[in-house]
Amino acid sequence: MKYKKEKEFDPLDNMVLEPTDFSPNRLFFKDGVFGAWLYQADCIEFMDLISKYFPEGKFDMIFADPPYFLSNGGITCHAGKMVKVDKGEWDKSKGAEINHEFNLAWLSRCQKVLKPNGTIWVSGTHHVIFSVGFAMQQIGMKILNDIAWEKPNPPPNLCCRYFTHSTETIIWAAKDEKSKHTFNYKEMKKMNYGKQMKTVWTIPAPNSDEKEFGKHPTQKPVSLLERIILASTKEGDLIYDPFSGSSTTGIAAIKHRRKFVGTELETDYLNLSVKRLEKLFKTIKKGEFQQNLFGNSLEYR
Ligand SMILES: C[S@@+](CC[C@H](N)C(=O)[O-])C[C@H]1O[C@@H](n2cnc3c(N)ncnc32)[C@H](O)[C@@H]1O
Repeated sequence: MKYKKEKEFDPLDNMVLEPTDFSPNRLFFKDGVFGAWLYQADCIEFMDLISKYFPEGKFDMIFADPPYFLSNGGITCHAGKMVKVDKGEWDKSKGAEINHEFNLAWLSRCQKVLKPNGTIWVSGTHHVIFSVGFAMQQIGMKILNDIAWEKPNPPPNLCCRYFTHSTETIIWAAKDEKSKHTFNYKEMKKMNYGKQMKTVWTIPAPNSDEKEFGKHPTQKPVSLLERIILASTKEGDLIYDPFSGSSTTGIAAIKHRRKFVGTELETDYLNLSVKRLEKLFKTIKKGEFQQNLFGNSLEYR
Protein backbone atom coordinates (compact mmCIF):
# COMPACT_ATOMS: atom_id res chain seq x y z
CA MET A 1 0.00 0.00 0.00
CA LYS A 2 1.78 3.17 -1.18
CA TYR A 3 0.72 6.55 0.07
CA LYS A 4 1.19 9.02 -2.74
CA LYS A 5 2.63 12.32 -1.59
CA GLU A 6 0.15 15.01 -2.45
CA LYS A 7 0.82 18.66 -2.97
CA GLU A 8 0.40 20.45 0.30
CA PHE A 9 -2.86 22.34 0.35
CA ASP A 10 -4.99 24.03 2.94
CA PRO A 11 -8.73 23.61 2.49
CA LEU A 12 -9.39 26.59 4.70
CA ASP A 13 -6.78 28.87 3.13
CA ASN A 14 -7.17 32.57 3.82
CA MET A 15 -9.63 32.03 6.65
CA VAL A 16 -8.95 34.55 9.40
CA LEU A 17 -9.60 33.19 12.87
CA GLU A 18 -9.94 35.44 15.88
CA PRO A 19 -10.09 34.53 19.56
CA THR A 20 -13.28 35.30 21.48
CA ASP A 21 -14.12 35.22 25.21
CA PHE A 22 -15.37 31.71 24.65
CA SER A 23 -12.68 30.12 22.52
CA PRO A 24 -9.04 30.63 21.42
CA ASN A 25 -10.04 29.88 17.79
CA ARG A 26 -6.59 28.98 16.52
CA LEU A 27 -5.05 26.41 14.24
CA PHE A 28 -3.51 23.91 16.66
CA PHE A 29 -2.00 21.38 14.26
CA LYS A 30 -1.83 20.78 10.55
CA ASP A 31 -0.43 18.21 8.17
CA GLY A 32 -0.86 19.25 4.57
CA VAL A 33 0.55 16.00 3.14
CA PHE A 34 -1.95 13.57 4.65
CA GLY A 35 -4.59 16.26 5.05
CA ALA A 36 -5.37 16.86 8.72
CA TRP A 37 -6.27 20.18 10.38
CA LEU A 38 -7.09 20.56 14.06
CA TYR A 39 -8.46 23.81 15.45
CA GLN A 40 -8.76 24.77 19.07
CA ALA A 41 -12.12 26.36 18.57
CA ASP A 42 -15.73 26.38 19.57
CA CYS A 43 -17.44 24.45 16.80
CA ILE A 44 -20.32 26.91 16.44
CA GLU A 45 -18.02 29.91 15.99
CA PHE A 46 -15.84 27.88 13.62
CA MET A 47 -18.75 26.76 11.45
CA ASP A 48 -20.10 30.33 11.27
CA LEU A 49 -16.75 31.34 9.83
CA ILE A 50 -16.68 28.40 7.39
CA SER A 51 -20.11 29.27 6.05
CA LYS A 52 -19.02 32.89 5.61
CA TYR A 53 -16.00 31.84 3.52
CA PHE A 54 -17.65 28.86 1.80
CA PRO A 55 -21.36 29.63 1.41
CA GLU A 56 -21.84 26.62 -0.93
CA GLY A 57 -20.69 24.22 1.78
CA LYS A 58 -17.24 22.78 2.45
CA PHE A 59 -17.44 19.27 3.91
CA ASP A 60 -18.41 15.98 2.24
CA MET A 61 -19.25 14.32 5.54
CA ILE A 62 -19.54 15.22 9.21
CA PHE A 63 -19.27 12.84 12.13
CA ALA A 64 -20.37 14.39 15.43
CA ASP A 65 -20.09 12.84 18.87
CA PRO A 66 -21.55 15.74 20.87
CA PRO A 67 -21.82 16.11 24.65
CA TYR A 68 -24.37 13.50 25.82
CA PHE A 69 -25.35 15.57 28.89
CA LEU A 70 -25.04 12.59 31.19
CA SER A 71 -22.50 13.75 33.79
CA ASN A 72 -25.06 14.55 36.45
CA GLY A 73 -24.09 12.60 39.52
CA GLY A 74 -25.21 9.15 38.37
CA ILE A 75 -23.07 6.06 38.99
CA THR A 76 -21.48 3.54 36.69
CA CYS A 77 -19.02 0.68 36.90
CA HIS A 78 -15.43 1.31 35.77
CA ALA A 79 -12.72 -1.36 36.08
CA GLY A 80 -14.92 -3.22 38.57
CA LYS A 81 -15.42 -0.15 40.78
CA MET A 82 -18.47 2.01 41.38
CA VAL A 83 -17.64 5.53 40.14
CA LYS A 84 -19.54 8.77 39.57
CA VAL A 85 -20.36 9.60 35.96
CA ASP A 86 -18.21 12.67 35.43
CA LYS A 87 -16.80 13.10 31.94
CA GLY A 88 -16.20 16.84 32.36
CA GLU A 89 -17.93 20.23 32.58
CA TRP A 90 -18.77 20.02 28.87
CA ASP A 91 -20.96 16.97 29.51
CA LYS A 92 -23.23 18.46 32.22
CA SER A 93 -26.91 18.85 31.40
CA LYS A 94 -28.35 22.37 31.42
CA GLY A 95 -31.94 21.16 31.27
CA ALA A 96 -33.90 19.70 28.35
CA GLU A 97 -34.76 23.04 26.67
CA ILE A 98 -31.27 24.51 26.77
CA ASN A 99 -29.72 21.21 25.70
CA HIS A 100 -32.08 21.15 22.71
CA GLU A 101 -31.29 24.76 21.81
CA PHE A 102 -27.62 23.83 21.78
CA ASN A 103 -28.28 20.81 19.55
CA LEU A 104 -30.32 22.96 17.17
CA ALA A 105 -27.56 25.58 17.10
CA TRP A 106 -24.69 23.27 16.15
CA LEU A 107 -26.76 21.03 13.85
CA SER A 108 -28.06 23.98 11.83
CA ARG A 109 -24.44 25.12 11.36
CA CYS A 110 -23.48 21.59 10.28
CA GLN A 111 -26.23 21.73 7.67
CA LYS A 112 -24.78 24.97 6.28
CA VAL A 113 -21.19 23.73 6.06
CA LEU A 114 -22.10 20.43 4.38
CA LYS A 115 -21.82 20.29 0.60
CA PRO A 116 -25.21 19.82 -1.15
CA ASN A 117 -24.81 16.02 -1.29
CA GLY A 118 -23.07 15.74 2.08
CA THR A 119 -24.20 13.63 5.01
CA ILE A 120 -23.89 13.80 8.78
CA TRP A 121 -23.64 11.04 11.39
CA VAL A 122 -24.42 11.82 15.04
CA SER A 123 -23.91 9.40 17.91
CA GLY A 124 -25.68 9.51 21.25
CA THR A 125 -27.52 7.77 24.06
CA HIS A 126 -31.12 8.47 25.08
CA HIS A 127 -29.89 11.55 26.97
CA VAL A 128 -29.31 13.41 23.71
CA ILE A 129 -30.30 11.40 20.66
CA PHE A 130 -34.05 12.18 20.67
CA SER A 131 -33.28 15.89 20.75
CA VAL A 132 -30.76 15.43 17.91
CA GLY A 133 -33.32 13.53 15.80
CA PHE A 134 -36.01 16.13 16.46
CA ALA A 135 -33.65 19.01 15.64
CA MET A 136 -32.72 17.30 12.36
CA GLN A 137 -36.40 17.14 11.43
CA GLN A 138 -36.96 20.78 12.47
CA ILE A 139 -34.23 22.02 10.11
CA GLY A 140 -35.21 19.75 7.19
CA MET A 141 -32.39 17.25 7.13
CA LYS A 142 -33.30 13.90 5.59
CA ILE A 143 -32.83 11.03 8.05
CA LEU A 144 -31.36 8.06 6.18
CA ASN A 145 -30.83 5.43 8.90
CA ASP A 146 -30.50 4.99 12.63
CA ILE A 147 -27.75 2.56 13.54
CA ALA A 148 -27.79 0.62 16.81
CA TRP A 149 -24.16 0.31 17.83
CA GLU A 150 -24.05 -2.70 20.14
CA LYS A 151 -21.15 -3.00 22.61
CA PRO A 152 -20.41 -6.66 23.31
CA ASN A 153 -18.86 -6.03 26.77
CA PRO A 154 -20.75 -3.16 28.42
CA PRO A 155 -20.17 -2.28 32.11
CA PRO A 156 -22.69 -4.07 34.35
CA ASN A 157 -25.71 -2.24 35.69
CA LEU A 158 -24.90 -1.77 39.39
CA CYS A 159 -28.29 -0.85 40.84
CA CYS A 160 -29.99 -3.79 39.10
CA ARG A 161 -33.12 -1.73 38.44
CA TYR A 162 -32.59 -1.33 34.69
CA PHE A 163 -31.43 -3.43 31.74
CA THR A 164 -27.68 -3.15 31.13
CA HIS A 165 -27.11 -0.24 28.75
CA SER A 166 -25.31 -1.80 25.82
CA THR A 167 -26.14 0.29 22.75
CA GLU A 168 -25.69 3.77 21.37
CA THR A 169 -27.68 5.17 18.48
CA ILE A 170 -26.01 6.77 15.49
CA ILE A 171 -28.29 8.76 13.21
CA TRP A 172 -27.24 9.16 9.58
CA ALA A 173 -28.85 12.07 7.74
CA ALA A 174 -28.46 13.97 4.48
CA LYS A 175 -28.18 17.76 4.30
CA ASP A 176 -31.75 18.03 2.94
CA GLU A 177 -34.43 16.20 0.94
CA LYS A 178 -32.71 17.05 -2.38
CA SER A 179 -29.32 15.57 -1.47
CA LYS A 180 -27.95 12.71 -3.55
CA HIS A 181 -25.94 11.06 -0.81
CA THR A 182 -23.03 8.65 -1.22
CA PHE A 183 -23.62 5.08 -0.02
CA ASN A 184 -20.97 2.49 -0.87
CA TYR A 185 -23.46 -0.35 -0.93
CA LYS A 186 -21.20 -2.98 -2.48
CA GLU A 187 -18.35 -2.27 -0.08
CA MET A 188 -20.68 -2.66 2.91
CA LYS A 189 -22.07 -5.91 1.53
CA LYS A 190 -18.57 -7.25 1.00
CA MET A 191 -17.64 -6.29 4.55
CA ASN A 192 -20.72 -8.21 5.74
CA TYR A 193 -19.64 -11.49 4.06
CA GLY A 194 -21.82 -10.95 0.98
CA LYS A 195 -25.05 -10.07 2.81
CA GLN A 196 -26.67 -6.63 2.92
CA MET A 197 -25.29 -4.69 5.89
CA LYS A 198 -27.97 -4.24 8.56
CA THR A 199 -28.45 -1.36 11.00
CA VAL A 200 -27.23 -3.29 14.07
CA TRP A 201 -23.45 -3.06 14.31
CA THR A 202 -21.64 -5.05 16.98
CA ILE A 203 -18.30 -3.35 17.60
CA PRO A 204 -16.20 -3.54 20.79
CA ALA A 205 -15.07 -0.50 22.79
CA PRO A 206 -11.61 0.95 21.91
CA ASN A 207 -8.77 -1.50 22.57
CA SER A 208 -5.62 -0.70 24.57
CA ASP A 209 -3.60 0.20 21.42
CA GLU A 210 -6.08 2.98 20.77
CA LYS A 211 -5.33 4.39 24.22
CA GLU A 212 -1.54 4.14 24.15
CA PHE A 213 -1.09 7.92 24.59
CA GLY A 214 -3.89 8.26 27.17
CA LYS A 215 -7.60 8.14 26.69
CA HIS A 216 -10.56 10.37 26.19
CA PRO A 217 -13.49 9.60 28.55
CA THR A 218 -15.87 9.06 25.63
CA GLN A 219 -13.43 7.81 23.01
CA LYS A 220 -15.03 5.98 20.08
CA PRO A 221 -13.50 2.81 18.57
CA VAL A 222 -11.56 3.42 15.35
CA SER A 223 -13.35 0.50 13.67
CA LEU A 224 -16.73 2.20 14.20
CA LEU A 225 -15.49 5.32 12.43
CA GLU A 226 -13.87 3.25 9.69
CA ARG A 227 -17.19 1.64 8.86
CA ILE A 228 -18.97 4.99 8.81
CA ILE A 229 -16.32 6.52 6.56
CA LEU A 230 -16.15 3.56 4.20
CA ALA A 231 -19.96 3.54 3.92
CA SER A 232 -20.50 7.19 3.11
CA THR A 233 -17.40 8.83 1.60
CA LYS A 234 -14.97 8.55 -1.30
CA GLU A 235 -11.17 8.73 -1.26
CA GLY A 236 -10.03 12.36 -1.02
CA ASP A 237 -13.26 13.56 0.64
CA LEU A 238 -13.04 16.18 3.37
CA ILE A 239 -14.52 15.03 6.69
CA TYR A 240 -15.27 17.33 9.63
CA ASP A 241 -15.71 16.44 13.30
CA PRO A 242 -17.05 19.39 15.35
CA PHE A 243 -16.39 17.67 18.73
CA SER A 244 -13.21 15.88 17.80
CA GLY A 245 -11.99 14.82 21.29
CA SER A 246 -9.03 12.49 20.71
CA SER A 247 -9.57 12.64 16.89
CA THR A 248 -10.78 9.08 16.33
CA THR A 249 -12.52 10.41 13.22
CA GLY A 250 -9.23 11.82 11.97
CA ILE A 251 -7.42 8.51 12.50
CA ALA A 252 -10.03 6.56 10.54
CA ALA A 253 -10.18 9.24 7.83
CA ILE A 254 -6.41 9.31 7.22
CA LYS A 255 -6.20 5.48 7.27
CA HIS A 256 -8.61 5.47 4.34
CA ARG A 257 -7.14 8.39 2.39
CA ARG A 258 -9.77 10.91 3.34
CA LYS A 259 -8.92 14.37 4.72
CA PHE A 260 -9.85 15.58 8.17
CA VAL A 261 -10.76 18.83 9.90
CA GLY A 262 -11.51 18.76 13.63
CA THR A 263 -12.49 21.31 16.27
CA GLU A 264 -12.00 20.74 19.99
CA LEU A 265 -11.85 23.11 22.96
CA GLU A 266 -9.69 21.22 25.45
CA THR A 267 -5.90 21.44 25.10
CA ASP A 268 -5.32 17.99 26.65
CA TYR A 269 -7.50 16.30 24.03
CA LEU A 270 -5.84 18.26 21.23
CA ASN A 271 -2.41 17.10 22.46
CA LEU A 272 -3.68 13.53 22.61
CA SER A 273 -5.01 13.89 19.06
CA VAL A 274 -1.67 15.16 17.76
CA LYS A 275 0.17 12.17 19.29
CA ARG A 276 -2.29 9.72 17.74
CA LEU A 277 -2.16 11.38 14.32
CA GLU A 278 1.64 11.66 14.27
CA LYS A 279 2.00 7.99 15.17
CA LEU A 280 -0.33 7.10 12.28
CA PHE A 281 1.61 9.28 9.80
CA LYS A 282 4.85 7.55 10.83
CA THR A 283 3.26 4.11 10.48
CA ILE A 284 1.97 4.92 7.02
CA LYS A 285 5.31 6.39 5.91
CA LYS A 286 7.10 3.23 7.08
CA GLY A 287 4.62 1.17 5.05
CA GLU A 288 3.52 -0.79 8.12
CA PHE A 289 0.02 -1.42 6.94
CA GLN A 290 -1.68 -4.47 5.59
CA GLN A 291 -5.06 -5.02 4.02
CA ASN A 292 -7.39 -6.85 6.37
CA LEU A 293 -9.64 -9.75 5.61
CA PHE A 294 -12.13 -7.64 3.71
CA GLY A 295 -9.52 -6.03 1.52
CA ASN A 296 -10.87 -2.59 2.23
CA SER A 297 -10.14 -1.73 5.85
CA LEU A 298 -6.53 -1.09 6.80
CA GLU A 299 -5.12 -2.40 10.05
CA TYR A 300 -1.89 -1.96 11.99
CA ARG A 301 0.41 -4.93 11.66
C1 LIG B 1 -18.17 13.08 23.26
S1 LIG B 1 -16.62 13.84 23.18
C2 LIG B 1 -15.97 13.32 21.62
C3 LIG B 1 -15.02 12.14 21.70
C4 LIG B 1 -14.45 11.71 20.35
N1 LIG B 1 -15.46 11.18 19.48
C5 LIG B 1 -13.31 10.70 20.50
O1 LIG B 1 -13.40 9.58 19.94
O2 LIG B 1 -12.34 11.01 21.19
C6 LIG B 1 -17.07 15.51 22.92
C7 LIG B 1 -15.91 16.50 22.89
O3 LIG B 1 -16.43 17.77 22.50
C8 LIG B 1 -15.68 18.79 23.13
N2 LIG B 1 -16.54 20.00 23.08
C9 LIG B 1 -17.59 20.29 23.89
N3 LIG B 1 -18.19 21.43 23.48
C10 LIG B 1 -17.50 21.86 22.38
C11 LIG B 1 -17.64 22.97 21.50
N4 LIG B 1 -18.61 23.89 21.69
N5 LIG B 1 -16.78 23.10 20.46
C12 LIG B 1 -15.78 22.19 20.26
N6 LIG B 1 -15.60 21.10 21.08
C13 LIG B 1 -16.44 20.95 22.13
C14 LIG B 1 -15.38 18.23 24.52
O4 LIG B 1 -14.22 18.84 25.08
C15 LIG B 1 -15.20 16.73 24.21
O5 LIG B 1 -13.83 16.42 24.06
